[in-house]
Amino acid sequence: MILQGKTVVVTGAGGGIGRAICLRLADDGARVVVTDLKQENAEKVASDIRAQGGTAFAYKADVTDSAEVRDVAKQILSDLRQVDILVNNAGGSAALLGKLSEFKDAPEEVWSWVINLNLMGTMRFTQALLHHMLERRSGKIINIASIAAEVGIINRVDYSAAKGGVVAMTKALAMEVGPCGVTVNSISPGLISRSTDPAGTETSEGTYLKRSGSQNEVASLVSFLASSEADFITGVNYTIDGGRTLGPTGKGKA
Ligand SMILES: NC(=O)c1ccc[n+]([C@@H]2O[C@H](COP(=O)([O-])OP(=O)(O)OC[C@H]3O[C@@H](n4cnc5c(N)ncnc54)[C@H](O)[C@@H]3O)[C@@H](O)[C@H]2O)c1
Repeated sequence: MILQGKTVVVTGAGGGIGRAICLRLADDGARVVVTDLKQENAEKVASDIRAQGGTAFAYKADVTDSAEVRDVAKQILSDLRQVDILVNNAGGSAALLGKLSEFKDAPEEVWSWVINLNLMGTMRFTQALLHHMLERRSGKIINIASIAAEVGIINRVDYSAAKGGVVAMTKALAMEVGPCGVTVNSISPGLISRSTDPAGTETSEGTYLKRSGSQNEVASLVSFLASSEADFITGVNYTIDGGRTLGPTGKGKA
């Protein structure tokens, strides 16, 4: 129970990785605030946690809506009094809109949408809870980025730029708030299974481990970074990708 007595807020928590993070942190003993664009997604995850004997609360929070983020952060602090850990997980590419394209054809409004969701969404939720953490001189912020930030992904130039921004933001903010007792780190997953089973993986030739990662494997890393075991770690981006960013996997190929 390494997170006993801690309260954690997770954004975009109704989807695959977010749900796995919530279940894991609840298992670790945390009170989990499940937030999502869709109230019913958040409610479902919160009720899964309660069914396992954990403590969870559900809130609707669209990370692209500044007023809603400010209001929900106030409500969470009024209801629960304390937030120790924020996991900025909400994100995704233009695939969610069915609008992936080569850069040369990418409309500006799609770029804005991707930056707004991934980078500005992380900025909004962080700012909304940071004052509380600074006042308490304690807090951990964990941003879910992507290997797109490190090596780029074709037809996702916008997403790569947005996640690159999340990693850069993580480092710069860590410098500002470290002296006040708040740590900021990011995680860059590679190919992660979209299975409905959080432990699920698929075979893949794209990694040196010859499989995708599971949502639970990302959740384990979040659990470590959220715990006191990671108290001296800040401003670090952790890649979790089965070696995908090491380079081409074909033997003898340059
Ligand atoms: N799945 C992967 O292979 C992979 C790889 C690298 C990084 N990531 C990152 O991990 C995070 C989670 O990805 P996932 O695959 O679990 O996504 P997912 O699509 O399964 O779930 C995303 C969740 O975010 C919610 N959401 C969407 N827009 C939102 C908004 N505006 N405000 C609040 N919530 C919103 C959705 O309702 C959904 O519940 C994302 O930041 C993604 O970019 C995923």
